[in-house]
Amino acid sequence: MKTKKIIIKTSNQRYPIYIGKNIIDKLSSILNQNFIKFEKCLMIIDKNIPSKMISKIKNSFMNKQVYIFMFRANEKNKSQKIINQILKILLDKNFSREDCLMTIGGGITGDVGGFAASLFKRGLKFVNIPTTLLAQVDSSIGGKTGVNTKHGKNLIGSFYQPKLVVSDLEFLDSLKKREMICGYGEILKHSLISNKIFFYFLSKNLKNILKNESKYIQKAVYESCLIKKKVVEEDEKEKNIRKVLNLGHTFAHAYEASLKYSNKLNHGEAVLLGIYTAVKFSFAIKLLNHKEFILISNHIEKSGLPFNINHYFSTKNIDKILSFMQKDKKNNSSKINLILLKKIGHPIITKVYTKRAIKNFLKKKLFN
Ligand SMILES: NC(=O)c1ccc[n+]([C@@H]2O[C@H](COP(=O)([O-])OP(=O)(O)OC[C@H]3O[C@@H](n4cnc5c(N)ncnc54)[C@H](O)[C@@H]3O)[C@@H](O)[C@H]2O)c1
Repeated sequence: MKTKKIIIKTSNQRYPIYIGKNIIDKLSSILNQNFIKFEKCLMIIDKNIPSKMISKIKNSFMNKQVYIFMFRANEKNKSQKIINQILKILLDKNFSREDCLMTIGGGITGDVGGFAASLFKRGLKFVNIPTTLLAQVDSSIGGKTGVNTKHGKNLIGSFYQPKLVVSDLEFLDSLKKREMICGYGEILKHSLISNKIFFYFLSKNLKNILKNESKYIQKAVYESCLIKKKVVEEDEKEKNIRKVLNLGHTFAHAYEASLKYSNKLNHGEAVLLGIYTAVKFSFAIKLLNHKEFILISNHIEKSGLPFNINHYFSTKNIDKILSFMQKDKKNNSSKINLILLKKIGHPIITKVYTKRAIKNFLKKKLFN
């Protein structure tokens, strides 16, 4: 498989994303090719990464001072407490801004590590090695970093771009099917907001993608990254068009928070459920036509992706869900902003609904 490369250009940074198989072995030469030099490196490593993959990375850094922080990735640990622990290591080991913080893990590890990197001495070099499908197609692109608080998800954070992203598809071999499905949710979202041809490719090849078949997974990751690249380059700080990436996310974040971020419904599953809810809402208000609604809902329902709200909630939970939707950082009034779909490839970002309208929809159309 030939490694693919995408360059992300933001207002003050330009960095490459490499997508391929067994590329982690070449990490050291990739760093050199991109003139990324440092003496010390703190690696934040997800505890679930197979040791053979960690050894490959460590072997690339024989002549550097490497410190390791093993990280248990869960939404509870995506916290200020962990940030303080990371900052303490950087201070104790006398890191400078010319040194490097590298994350090797999924979206949680990348968000936490990226945030710590942005804070330390106002920013040290950050390299992201995403190891979940979700992180490879979504969270490693665009520079959003952050942590959760008891008030909600990702409420404290920064925009901070990495110097380099290396997406080695070999990491996905050890990923649970459930996590593959979660990443797939974001790929599907990218097709829905931007590209009907890509949506058809996904509909045809879903099984091969979830099985991590080289040819299909690389195309899915690559196309997905291109879509996100286009959006974040146009609107880095989410003032306008970047909001389309939140399709389904206002619902998703409220679902996750209502279940207290329990393992019953993880982030990617909540996103899939949120996308399904947003698509159904778009159809209910006659924004999306019947044919397109059936195309999307068939894709989600028939492929074993999570979509049934009744598995996770009952109508008794609706008020709680709505109160979290209002707290979402994307809402700044008593009304709730939703990203909806007009057609596959045509999202709408300026739709605002009252709590009552959404409550009625959830009660009458979603729960059954
Ligand atoms: N920054 C952004 O733009 C952005 C975008 C989307 C999501 N996110 C955030 O990303 C997080 C979700 O990311 P995620 O789904 O990657 O979750 P995650 O980081 O928790 O990883 C999911 C699970 O997979 C395990 N894991 C990771 N890599 C593995 C591997 N190679 N083999 C085996 N197991 C592995 C982890 O230990 C964890 O149990 C959420 O907190 C979400 O808010 C951020």
